[in-house]
Amino acid sequence: MKNIVILISGRGSNMEAIVRAGIPGARIAAVISNRPDAGGLSIARGFGIETVALDHKLFAGRDEFDAALAAEIDRFAPDLVVLAGYMRILTDGFVRRYMGRMLNIHPSLLPCFTGLHTHRRAIEAGVKVAGTTVHFVTPELDSGPIVAQAVVPVLPGDDEEALAARVLKQEHRIYPQAVRWFVEERLIVENGRVTLRDAQSGPEGWCVPPVDA
Ligand code: GAR
Repeated sequence: MKNIVILISGRGSNMEAIVRAGIPGARIAAVISNRPDAGGLSIARGFGIETVALDHKLFAGRDEFDAALAAEIDRFAPDLVVLAGYMRILTDGFVRRYMGRMLNIHPSLLPCFTGLHTHRRAIEAGVKVAGTTVHFVTPELDSGPIVAQAVVPVLPGDDEEALAARVLKQEHRIYPQAVRWFVEERLIVENGRVTLRDAQSGPEGWCVPPVDA
């Protein structure tokens, strides 16, 4: 059984998708938020999952907060740390502690549109497709070996909310899939690239096409 700790900052819909997927061999050991008012905490409690709220505002700085966060995470002896809408910049020391066993989901087709306001910037740039990326976390923001991506169209008349909703639907598909692959020990990272052990041709490949828009 692999222990998973999920970090959130807000509504927690990706966390919920992972919990609902019921991944064999995985146990969601805890959900931790840096915001005590994160909606996802009560969702997690509803599933009987242990939750921790660690308010980053109560700490002197990033190093102090990340050290306290790591201490909380390590109580649950995680095999995998999953960032699911966790909206804090991580210190290098924190990233290195969990490197190779920490995944993030970002709402763009990386390496395009790192950082914030991805949907607004995609619309402003006039791109015709957008999407989402699951990747291993490395010290550089929103980079790191790519595990899975899904693509959606950007439609005429889309605003930020419409595009975000279309992308989020795909996030709920690919993040549980990526976590499942990790738990099955099928992700091989070599030279900054991820391949999937025993991949079938077609939709089970590491680039997951959308089922619908
Ligand atoms: C998701 O769209 C996720 O990709 C994004 O925040 C949202 C969280 O939603 N993450 C980032 O922007 C990280 N840079 P959720 O709380 O409902 O899962």
